[in-house]
Amino acid sequence: MADQSRPIAPATGKLGVLCVGLGAVASTFVAGVELARRGKAKPFGSLTQMATIRLGKRTEQRAPLIKDFLPLARLEDLVFGAWDPIPDNAFEAALKCGVLDKHEHVLPIRDFLERIAPMPAVFDQHYVKRLQGSNVKQGKTKRELAEALRKDIRDFKAKQGCDRLVVVWCASTEIFIQPGPTHESLAAFEQAMDANDRSIAPSMLYAWAAIMENVPFANGAPNLTVDTPALLELAEQRRVAIGGKDFKTGQTMVKTVLSPMFKARMLGVSGWYSTNILGNRDGEVLDDPESFKTKEESKLGVLEYILQPKMYPELYGELYHKVRINYYPPRGDNKEGWDNIDIFGWCGYPMQIKVDFLCRDSILAAPLVLDLALFFDLAQRAGFSGVQEWLSFYFKSPQVAPGLYPEHDLFIQHTKLKNTLRYLMGEEQITHLGVEYYEYGKE
Ligand SMILES: NC(=O)c1ccc[n+]([C@@H]2O[C@H](COP(=O)([O-])OP(=O)(O)OC[C@H]3O[C@@H](n4cnc5c(N)ncnc54)[C@H](O)[C@@H]3O)[C@@H](O)[C@H]2O)c1
Repeated sequence: MADQSRPIAPATGKLGVLCVGLGAVASTFVAGVELARRGKAKPFGSLTQMATIRLGKRTEQRAPLIKDFLPLARLEDLVFGAWDPIPDNAFEAALKCGVLDKHEHVLPIRDFLERIAPMPAVFDQHYVKRLQGSNVKQGKTKRELAEALRKDIRDFKAKQGCDRLVVVWCASTEIFIQPGPTHESLAAFEQAMDANDRSIAPSMLYAWAAIMENVPFANGAPNLTVDTPALLELAEQRRVAIGGKDFKTGQTMVKTVLSPMFKARMLGVSGWYSTNILGNRDGEVLDDPESFKTKEESKLGVLEYILQPKMYPELYGELYHKVRINYYPPRGDNKEGWDNIDIFGWCGYPMQIKVDFLCRDSILAAPLVLDLALFFDLAQRAGFSGVQEWLSFYFKSPQVAPGLYPEHDLFIQHTKLKNTLRYLMGEEQITHLGVEYYEYGKE
């Protein structure tokens, strides 16, 4: 029997998607949506567009598309805006990053892309060392800058005639910031904005501005940003959906699939060496040790949580884990990630696995931006406020409620996501118990 579904406000009118950053990921995302709308490309990699969801028992054969099952915003209803310290519009950005084929996928939608020009950014080179930009807001205090972002949000909504908005951070990775006293409470955070405290990074100002405007905020980079008690307090106060951090796309996605396999079979892991070559602007920014530190923390965390070395010291207690990112311009956005994994089995005999993933960073990330925009909008309309842990499927360092540890296993995250969708629509959870199909499961 299905339970009651939750009341969800309808997805009427336009949904504005505001990207902080209009670089490789954001330009590939907006171009891909437009190509899909014009029937010129398929939105592969997106659950909201491609995936089905099983409902009820296996014998019922009910498996609608997710986009037919839930009241999601349609691609036709999306409009786009962005901020970036680099003044390139989406057409120029798409050409510069070179992800999509110029003749097949960029020039045919030139007029659409040219209309997406970035608003001046809140940017400070202290937080992203390897970047310079001229399209930057001026203000005496961080609060003043954040208020200017609020105005941008309101103006965009009015000008585009949007019903609702979401903000997705697709901007560069900022330097590593330890959570400190200014992030502990909203009052301390706002005081620190007034005092131009160094611990308040630009990404936090975007998050604050979005929440103040009752707009959901998703963080695609590993920056601390919205993962602080202060901004959680604000999100709960204003009943706004927030979440992050760091799109889970390439090497870490593979890691969170392979490591649960080793653990499920009780195979030991003695070493995991991961290295990457990457030649896009993201690679250049991550070449700075302070930005890399933020990324490294995000990438390193997953094995600890999945393998639980404290619970299984003989299997994972000695695991040596190393992650490297090397800026290598000739490859552009086409990242190559190598993994060497040293494992051991029965009687301690060693074995090795090598993975060579020749991926395309932004091709993997763009559908995540789409899904996050649609699901955060859904969450907001369903009255889900605060941290959206059910969307941890999309993140390398999923934000969770205080006191909880994050789930990193991709398939646990996938089950969590689909069960949340069933829950929202009043459908039964799928536990995979399945005894009812057998004699021994009958009363
Ligand atoms: N592509 C992936 O697979 C992937 C996976 C996980 C995370 N990410 C993260 O997504 C982000 C975007 O990646 P990308 O490849 O598009 O990088 P990119 O360098 O091409 O684009 C980032 C853009 O953000 C802009 N920017 C920097 N600071 C800003 C600020 N304060 N306000 C507004 N804009 C600002 C930059 O000028 C740049 O145009 C990066 O942080 C990256 O680490 C990407």
